[in-house]
Amino acid sequence: MIHRHALGVFPNKPHTAFYEDGKLLMEQMVTRDGFDGAFTCLYYRLPPTDEFEVESIKLPGFCPVQPVPQQPLHRRHIKSQDMPHGGDFMTSRRTIALSQTLDIGICKPTDAPRHFFSNGDGDELYFVKAGSGVVESVYGLLEFREHDYILIPRSTPYRIHLNGHKGTMMVFEGRPKIGIPSEYRNKYGQITDYAPFSHRDFREPRELLRFDPARHGQAPYCIVAKMGNELTMHKYKHFPLDVAGWDGLVYPVAFNIHDFQPKTGLVHLPPTIHTTFSGQGFVICSFVPRLLDYHDKAIPCPYAHASVDMDEILYYVDGNFISRRGIGSESISLHPLGVTHGPHPGMYERSIGVRSTEELAVMCDSHYPFRLTMEADKVEDKAYHYSWVKLESPPNEPASTFTSK
Ligand SMILES: [Fe+2]
Repeated sequence: MIHRHALGVFPNKPHTAFYEDGKLLMEQMVTRDGFDGAFTCLYYRLPPTDEFEVESIKLPGFCPVQPVPQQPLHRRHIKSQDMPHGGDFMTSRRTIALSQTLDIGICKPTDAPRHFFSNGDGDELYFVKAGSGVVESVYGLLEFREHDYILIPRSTPYRIHLNGHKGTMMVFEGRPKIGIPSEYRNKYGQITDYAPFSHRDFREPRELLRFDPARHGQAPYCIVAKMGNELTMHKYKHFPLDVAGWDGLVYPVAFNIHDFQPKTGLVHLPPTIHTTFSGQGFVICSFVPRLLDYHDKAIPCPYAHASVDMDEILYYVDGNFISRRGIGSESISLHPLGVTHGPHPGMYERSIGVRSTEELAVMCDSHYPFRLTMEADKVEDKAYHYSWVKLESPPNEPASTFTSK
């Protein structure tokens, strides 16, 4: 929901008769907040309502998801790099953390997608750690590449094709919404010039989805819908995404993290300046390569901090993680509220004089505490909490450029 976009054909005025090759098209309105929010009008060649069968299905680890029975309060390190690849974009998905308004999962597909998926619980935001491909949705084809965010509105039927044989993604499920912060827009709805991105950075679907028997197979055509902790497969006699055109604000977009425009201050600035997306009780932030603080006595490495109202999750993507031994690309740290956290021993001192960082990471701060799942428990580094006292850095170790949140 960034700005209005349109593809294909549609009538000059909504809710009027509109024909293609002499055949009346069926209008569908997709609305948010009842009829008060953003909306899109789509024009179908066949009514998207002819499902003839529904059945419950299960994808253990994603839906239903199983929280850990107990979660003593301490810092966590989830080694998502140890989670296996396999399955498609939907069947490979594993939820690792749950909160009242946000679930976080890891998706490591290797296979071509089989069915379409529609999340009725909330908006989804993928971060593509590795891989490229195309999101095929009722709104058309949206190409993506490595380090893209892909924002998919609630209840959008879609599936993900990879260009290669492997993909690695983090996926946020925000209930009910994920968007850009309202303070990044002026009163006219335009993204301001002091926001960390512009309208031009968001990529829209550029081509409509056309039914192709070789690509989409034969009936029944299936959409798997998620609501709560259940999945329901809807089977259609006709291809249910055959759209001649649409216009509106609701559709998927892509945004590459390297298009985020970081800010640097005289002294250390709080993570707020990295905010990229937000939702109810949470923000998602981008840490990208940048210059660091320019005061001659600045300490670029963050101080120890007790952010007493928020859990913090950090997904390490790229850069130099040498100051956090055991942390690598795809590591996920959870620093929960109620526990102070800060840099590993030696890092604070060694950051003085460092003028730039190559770190690349995605962070999520949430007012609502996270509960880990059994999928996270399988790959947790149980010694992480003690690494601040046990892993003193040797004095000759080179300075890290990873500043640690
Ligand atoms: Fe932090």
